[in-house]
Amino acid sequence: MSLNKKSVDDFNAKGRRVLVRCDFNVPLKNGEITDETRIKAALPTINKLIGDGAKVILCSHLGKVKEGPNEKESLAPVAKRLSEKLGKEVKFISDYNVTGADTTAAVEAMKDGDVVLLQNTRFRGKEETKPEEAGEAFAKELADLADDYVCDAFGSAHRAHASVAVVTKYITAKGGTNAVGYLMQKEIDFLGNAVENPVRPFVAILGGAKVADKLKVIDNLLEKADTLIIGGGMAFTFLKAKGYEIGKSLVDDEKIDYCKEMMAKADKLGKKLLLPVDTGIAAGFPDPIDGPIDVQYVDSSKIPADMEGLDIGPKTCELFANAAKTAKTVVWNGPMGVFENPTLAKGTIAVAKALAETDATTIIGGGDSAAACNQLGFADKMSHISTGGGASLEFLEGKELPGVYAADDK
Ligand code: 3PG
Ligand code: MG
Repeated sequence: MSLNKKSVDDFNAKGRRVLVRCDFNVPLKNGEITDETRIKAALPTINKLIGDGAKVILCSHLGKVKEGPNEKESLAPVAKRLSEKLGKEVKFISDYNVTGADTTAAVEAMKDGDVVLLQNTRFRGKEETKPEEAGEAFAKELADLADDYVCDAFGSAHRAHASVAVVTKYITAKGGTNAVGYLMQKEIDFLGNAVENPVRPFVAILGGAKVADKLKVIDNLLEKADTLIIGGGMAFTFLKAKGYEIGKSLVDDEKIDYCKEMMAKADKLGKKLLLPVDTGIAAGFPDPIDGPIDVQYVDSSKIPADMEGLDIGPKTCELFANAAKTAKTVVWNGPMGVFENPTLAKGTIAVAKALAETDATTIIGGGDSAAACNQLGFADKMSHISTGGGASLEFLEGKELPGVYAADDK
């Protein structure tokens, strides 16, 4: 995939109507935004276009919208917060149809430097998510509102949806530019370079619950990295594949052969594949998740049959931290244990701390590991924390992301 994409610096947006796809899929609690990371991350591109004198038409999805359009998944709270952050009015067009007479009128009334935000694109149901059904029509309606298109929604770049990818076709047809925003550019630079052109040694650290979620990531990173570290829930399937007793720990029995294959592949390629050597165990999963729990540490090959592994142990923390310290590039995706619990967060903290202390380029691949870095206070010590969960994983798999691919080449 060509990563040499046109950016917002490569066209003159003065007086142009620019449709900007952001990822404003932020967590909400009782209508309040509980984490504004994605809003903050979108500001550089929006401010640049305002400064250029563009008419800035923002759009995004929010949530899964399983039950059809509803106020709980309206983008209204985003318009409000964004307006505070930009220090100027963001006119919100609340129409559940997203496009239509209200939207067209609002766009026609825009002056250079004005900003509007359209309603949740997923309110258009299949028209947004299934381009092969009615999505073409929606994509064209979106393109009809604008002259140019900017995709800055890295978190959604793995979705070939109308507002993420299909719209570019109609912008091209009318002679407009399809560019990536600063956030997309930054994500592409960090994640793309780390995987395709890393300063070595390159150490990749993977965690999280399930092997099944990361099959292609493991496979791809085994080829690209010098050392692959596996912790978290998914390590137990590897440990079982080695013939160890793993007790009641999380296991994906269907993936045992896959784990054996990966261990053989590491051997063949001469790569280091590090697994936990000791494990924090308890009688069961903490309930509530952050409640008190009695944890013991045992050798990873000796987990008692009635116990469950829930974190990496202190020897493993040292092993993983030392490996990370030798690296010039580190990519980390997925916690080492149940980090929501203070007693079981030790492994995840140890890895975060090792990354915070190294001079290497450190890239956190979104989702839970990003949440862990933020929650544990290490966020500003990392070179880059991706705003994409699923998208950053697919990037690490070496896949072409529709939202990146759709932008014009330079
Ligand atoms: C995310 O939060 O993962 C992105 O916004 C994409 O959302 P989705 O997984 O619902 O497509
Ligand atoms: Mg997701």
